[in-house]
Amino acid sequence: MSSLTEYSWPAAILLALSLLCLSTLFTFYRSNNTQKPHSGLNIPELGGFSLLAAWPFFAKRDDFLWSNFKKTGAEMFRFRALQHHVVAMHGTEARKAFFTEKGLNLPEGYALLFGTSPTVRDLQDVDTAEYTAQFLLKQFTDLLSKERLANGKFCAVFPSLLKDTDRLMAGWSSEGTMDPFKELNDIVFQLTVRLGSCRELAEDLDAVARMSQLLDNLEKAATPAALLLPWLPTAARKAKQKNTRELFALIYSFVETRRAASVRSSDTIDFLLGNGFSTENVVEFILGLIHAGYINTGMNVGWNLLYIGMHPEWKAKVSAEFRALLATHTDAASTDPIHERLASIPLGAWETELPVVDAGMRETLRMTMGLLALRRNLGGDITMAGRTILAGDFLAYPLGDVHHNPDIYPEPYKWDPHRYDAGREEDKQAPLAFLGWGGGRHMCAGMRIAKLEIKLILALFVLSFEFQVVDGAGALPKSLPRVDFNDFQRPRPVQGNPCYIKFRRLKVD
Ligand code: HEM
Repeated sequence: MSSLTEYSWPAAILLALSLLCLSTLFTFYRSNNTQKPHSGLNIPELGGFSLLAAWPFFAKRDDFLWSNFKKTGAEMFRFRALQHHVVAMHGTEARKAFFTEKGLNLPEGYALLFGTSPTVRDLQDVDTAEYTAQFLLKQFTDLLSKERLANGKFCAVFPSLLKDTDRLMAGWSSEGTMDPFKELNDIVFQLTVRLGSCRELAEDLDAVARMSQLLDNLEKAATPAALLLPWLPTAARKAKQKNTRELFALIYSFVETRRAASVRSSDTIDFLLGNGFSTENVVEFILGLIHAGYINTGMNVGWNLLYIGMHPEWKAKVSAEFRALLATHTDAASTDPIHERLASIPLGAWETELPVVDAGMRETLRMTMGLLALRRNLGGDITMAGRTILAGDFLAYPLGDVHHNPDIYPEPYKWDPHRYDAGREEDKQAPLAFLGWGGGRHMCAGMRIAKLEIKLILALFVLSFEFQVVDGAGALPKSLPRVDFNDFQRPRPVQGNPCYIKFRRLKVD
């Protein structure tokens, strides 16, 4: 593997500076020759130094997009990032084409413009030749298929999910205050490792904690400089490789343990090995799955609990719904712990008998999902919303365009799960108006898993604790902070207005 360790530090700094000069000259030359729109291309193009023009895209994405939509007055604008072109777009016609056009590729878009995902392709000495994005997606689909989730194999892991949740909640004191974005995120991480790997790894608590730390390190290493100048041997670049390598080695050893086992289990690693995967490809798959849970589900469960906690009417309804689920499917006279009773409820009931919780989750997703969806045009030149998108161009569409659009969702920053009630159905008033789980050609492959994780955690928490939302001073806040949509890695709250959950464990009757 080529790395900085082959150079002495002064030589590396010199090399980096010369590369930076060369790159600046190169981008200056290119940008001064490409400020005019491509002939026949009626999309405004941002001029200036390409490096400087693209910097805010990697530093403050949402602000960059909306200020340029406003400045250009157009539904699309084009700018240069690295040696590529990106077309940012919004509006109904653009959205329809973005999510349905065949030549637009999802993994290629995220690979260049997202950049935080740990991938073994960053480790040049690891062979993942048989891996393709399509192949990976097929495994996701098979692994999380309705049949597999509903049959006895998945049910074998189900009680462990609730046991994990109970163990982590038992680690809290009987009353106190917690940061939902930390504590609930840790639970989601544990559940995703349990679902996405094997029992040996899920029960090695040091290994799970180390994985979580390595993903945190990778997130910090995704600086604008590292994304814009990926070849520059910066500290962030080095950190990305070092952390990815350790993550890879850690998971690799557990895959090899399972490969050597004489009896196959129903765990995910064994499922993949049974499908003929190489160890490298199993690791690649697990990294993708755990990272997907890490960036989305962990934050989402925290937002759900905060929104429920801020709305007394919904808090009472959610609590009643979980109690009804428990009463319908388990023995009310049982003295078994709640997590064991919850574990005996069939999967189908979790999916179909919680309409109040489902509406709250949908609304929370609408409020918080402002992800920038990304694609690359791998087909020929195409026409989208009356404009030509060239082959090879990248495309970016901010989900906030539809989720926070007052013409579709009146008072878009108000949390109101009644929006989806019969008669209102605001999410059906425009094409692809709800994209919280994706839409068109790319629906979320992990949706059922993510929904289940969120419901299990909410159920055990709501049934075991009495709670309220508090601000930094311990008082009921007037409102919740908004999501920082410039934070392109995870939907976290904007800084400076923290909210916590104050809880007290309920006595068992
Ligand atoms: C609350 C949690 C989650 C949310 C809100 C979420 C949301 C989304 C969204 C909006 C997309 C479409 C992105 C686009 O069009 O650019 C997507 C795609 C995807 N998600 Fe999730 N996701 C979540 C959790 C997960 C988990 C846990 C997994 C893995 C088990 C997963 C696997 C995937 C995959 C593989 C795709 C790409 C599908 C394709 O290429 O067609 N997601 N997700």
